[in-house]
Amino acid sequence: MTSVVSKKIISKKTDDTLTLGKSLGQKMIQKTSIALIGDLGAGKTTFVQGLAKGLGVDKNYYITSPTYTLINTYPADPFTLCHLDLYRLGSVDELEFIGFDDLLEDNHIIIVEWPQILNDISFKFDLEINFEFDDRYNRIISVHASGQAGSNLLSNLLL
Ligand SMILES: Nc1ncnc2c1ncn2[C@@H]1O[C@H](COP(=O)(O)OP(=O)(O)OP(=O)(O)O)[C@@H](O)[C@H]1O
Ligand SMILES: [Mg+2]
Repeated sequence: MTSVVSKKIISKKTDDTLTLGKSLGQKMIQKTSIALIGDLGAGKTTFVQGLAKGLGVDKNYYITSPTYTLINTYPADPFTLCHLDLYRLGSVDELEFIGFDDLLEDNHIIIVEWPQILNDISFKFDLEINFEFDDRYNRIISVHASGQAGSNLLSNLLL
């Protein structure tokens, strides 16, 4: 099987982004890390809301950007969904305070808004998802896989 390393969709409305996240969540079979890259309001948190649905997070949890707490976690049996927003992180040294190293173990699905600061520690994500606006305010969402686990997951995602 050839490895799929990138896929792209045009999301015309909030629901399209939710559906994409949900489809990905339904395909997850092992711990996975995902970087979400895009401007304010581009749809990163919306995507996480869909992912949570696909993973079976209880619908009573309302998922918002953890802009001040930096991390929120949600039970998603057999996984734990760890949603990070590093917009306000001053330096990688502060990762210690949120217990970042502990997140890298177990059945954790780690999804990070504003992940750029993690380049400083050469952190590698299985998937990187870019959100861009087109001139009609649609979101162009492109998913890039790196490594075998990421590309297997992406291959299974029907777009
Ligand atoms: N196609 C679309 N995909 C995603 N969100 C959309 C779309 N069209 C409109 N929206 C709206 O845009 C907003 C996106 O907000 P969201 O919180 O997901 O952005 P964000 O990328 O997480 O921003 P921030 O960097 O501030 O955390 C929501 O209010 C959502 O309903
Ligand atoms: Mg957000």
